[in-house]
Amino acid sequence: MLKQDKPKSFLAWVGGKSQLTDRIIPLLPPHHCYCEVFAGAAWMLFRKEESKVEIINDINSDLVTLYRVVKNHLEEFVRTLKWLLVAREEFDRFMMQEPSTLTDIQRSVRFFYIMKTGYGARLKSPSFGIAASAPSRFNLLRIEEELSAAHLRLSRVYIENKPFQTVIDRFDKPDTVFYVDPPYWGCENYYGNGVFIRDDFTILRDRLAGIKGKFVMSINDVPEIRELFKDFVIREVPTKYSMARNGVKQVTELLIFNYEPPKV
Ligand SMILES: C[S@@+](CC[C@H](N)C(=O)[O-])C[C@H]1O[C@@H](n2cnc3c(N)ncnc32)[C@H](O)[C@@H]1O
Repeated sequence: MLKQDKPKSFLAWVGGKSQLTDRIIPLLPPHHCYCEVFAGAAWMLFRKEESKVEIINDINSDLVTLYRVVKNHLEEFVRTLKWLLVAREEFDRFMMQEPSTLTDIQRSVRFFYIMKTGYGARLKSPSFGIAASAPSRFNLLRIEEELSAAHLRLSRVYIENKPFQTVIDRFDKPDTVFYVDPPYWGCENYYGNGVFIRDDFTILRDRLAGIKGKFVMSINDVPEIRELFKDFVIREVPTKYSMARNGVKQVTELLIFNYEPPKV
């Protein structure tokens, strides 16, 4: 399969793992149930083969509503998107809307539009993205195709909107594998103030230490994470971060397991 043919998520997401999926997927153990605890744009789910049972979870309810709408109301969603222009006035109009006053479809159109046309797909204080160097990510010609592929992939996926602890407790079984991709250490508030705080790393570590199933976690390589997770198997992987202004930066990330991953 050519690189550009690889399945994709339909969203760019802060901390999205499009660069790491090829390294993590071969390391997943045999399992019956696959659960993404911090799904974001769910790059792993969209790239990997289907598991018997699949769950994606995220605390962000705009995002989870969007997944549910793509799964259940694709036609109406696409019909609404098709009338939208890429324009600052449209962006500002959406920004003024209060999501709680909208229907699920309207709320998802608003969120999707802001994510696609906003600078750097920022969740906090998004601003309209416009540059002479690149076209908009909101490409009407591709949207229907991308969303249709996502709709099919999501057809049998359970979609949850819970704090990570609830989802780990609910789906933990000996043949479950959790993919755990929390906010980076030092970037805890990137997804909203208070949704994930520094102490949550300790709570997460303790929860994962007690599970019956298996987990693989991806996280930035900092001494504090190495110390917190020192009783697990830790592997380093090279990856790249796209920087808004400075191009691409090579870094090391950590993959952390409660099992010995296969040598690949
Ligand atoms: C690093 S991103 C996940 C990126 C994802 N793997 C991808 O490829 O797009 C972390 C995600 O965790 C979610 N999150 C933050 N705090 C959470 C919590 N307490 N419980 C569940 N999800 C949470 C955020 O909304 C964010 O989407």
